[in-house]
Amino acid sequence: MVVGLVVTAFWAMLPAYVPNNAAVLAGGGRPIDGGRTWGDRRLLGDGKTWRGTAVGTLVGIVLAAGLNVAAAPVGTALGVSLPTFPPAGALGLAAGAMAGDIAASFLKRRSGRARGAAFPGLDQLDFVVGALVVAFLLAPGWAQATFTLGVLTVIVVVTPVLHVGTNIIAYLIGAKNEPW
Ligand code: CTP
Ligand code: MG
Repeated sequence: MVVGLVVTAFWAMLPAYVPNNAAVLAGGGRPIDGGRTWGDRRLLGDGKTWRGTAVGTLVGIVLAAGLNVAAAPVGTALGVSLPTFPPAGALGLAAGAMAGDIAASFLKRRSGRARGAAFPGLDQLDFVVGALVVAFLLAPGWAQATFTLGVLTVIVVVTPVLHVGTNIIAYLIGAKNEPW
């Protein structure tokens, strides 16, 4: 019962989780803010690039399409009814995750934090909030049916743990400059 809820929540959020990691691997090139500043601070900083954002979003959408194919067999094997992703839902999760992360960088720069500085709490949940908000906007019916109160609760509890874990791994293998 609880295991089923955790598996469902993880599955439903995969198209939002993976874009950030893909962006880390794909990042580089022109920053989204084009180097622009507001006051003496950058708008977003060099850590938010067009390439990272585009690749991250695309990877999330392609992953969702793959999950749609796998949902029935994997769900049967696990004895869980796994969600599938309509195009608008997949786009909302992937693009929303990237947007949430970008919004967080904006807040970090405004609050005087340099690129790469940690902002505990925001770092772990920015992309979750972004993904859910945009998914609810683009695919409201699907999002309401998929992200029930139980699923949302699991997401808020489990995501920070997963985020910290994957970032430590990314740091150890040299894909990321900081372990957060
Ligand atoms: N990245 C990217 N585009 C994005 C998000 C991430 O290119 N939209 C890449 C960048 O190379 C970035 C790395 O992924 O440096 C790590 O992402 P993140 O930790 O979000 O960025 P930081 O460099 O730590 O910058 P910030 O302080 O703004 O979060
Ligand atoms: Mg960072």
